Amino acid sequence: MVARASASAPGKIILFGEHFVVRGARSLVSAVSLRVRVSLSETRGGAIRVRSPAVGLDARISTESLEPSDERLAPIARLIAFLRDEYGFSVLPHEAVVESEIPVGAGLGSSASLAAAYALAYTALHGAPLGRDDLVRASYEAEKVAHGRPSGVDNTVAVVGGTLLYRRGEGFRRVDVRLPEGSALLVVDSGVSRSTRRAVEDVLARAEATWRAAEHIYRAADEIVDLALEAFRRGDARLLGELMDLNQGLLNAMGASSEVIESIVFEARRAGAYGAKLTGAGRGGAVIVLAPEEASWELAARLSRKARGVYRVGLGVQGARLEE
Ligand code: PMV
Repeated sequence: MVARASASAPGKIILFGEHFVVRGARSLVSAVSLRVRVSLSETRGGAIRVRSPAVGLDARISTESLEPSDERLAPIARLIAFLRDEYGFSVLPHEAVVESEIPVGAGLGSSASLAAAYALAYTALHGAPLGRDDLVRASYEAEKVAHGRPSGVDNTVAVVGGTLLYRRGEGFRRVDVRLPEGSALLVVDSGVSRSTRRAVEDVLARAEATWRAAEHIYRAADEIVDLALEAFRRGDARLLGELMDLNQGLLNAMGASSEVIESIVFEARRAGAYGAKLTGAGRGGAVIVLAPEEASWELAARLSRKARGVYRVGLGVQGARLEE
């Protein structure tokens, strides 16, 4: 019998607090109902072959040197080396098929979800699926290769799921957040690629140059997170939308927005959304829109003319899990 294992993990959005979190404010991050699924089957020797038809990837990793034939597999190669060196998982030749609903390069955590799902499926293939803490650790190793100096938010939420409140130096706290009755959340992928590192550096430079003023913006962003938790508790979609608009204004003030983002945000508001803001690093990537349920289909159709893709998502979904 050929051993098989399959696992999936969710992408994420930052609901509130991106950028401000880098200098100590809180942020609110949620696993969303767009998943990546990894299906592995053991083979009788040869290399590790990874196929991801949606992105035109069909490449190999040597089982001896763990060298990937395609740079895009470098994070997975690192993951497999880490699982061998830290946990003693022998390098198994296998075939992997990756199917993803998460747009790549939009700040929705696709690389972290892939790493989390891969780590779970690969260790299950050995008959010893890792638990949550170890999955967070292992997927962080892959993220370091993909992103340089990641905060650890993406891979944590991909593994544990739900919605997390995060402050640097304090770690994560799970919070119970659900969409207000009668509202829908859209993720709009602008299709504009951006560099997270550049955006973070530029925002930090502005913060430094203007700190006596910017300090108040950072404090306001932190307060918005509290107000948002309260609005979620009360199921107040209108207030949540206002807080999203407010947060977007602060991000724009710090230089994290762009013409494309503003044009999507304004189009969404014009078409009846409660509120809209960029999510993640900004300058491109994705925008999130909170809208009345009944207006959301029409709104999605309108926004799709300005974007690469529009997705209706659920919040706080389950983290990495084994699949049949
Ligand atoms: O990489 P993204 O697009 O998910 O967003 C990065 C979030 C920032 O707050 C801008 C940076 C960070 O490390 O927290």
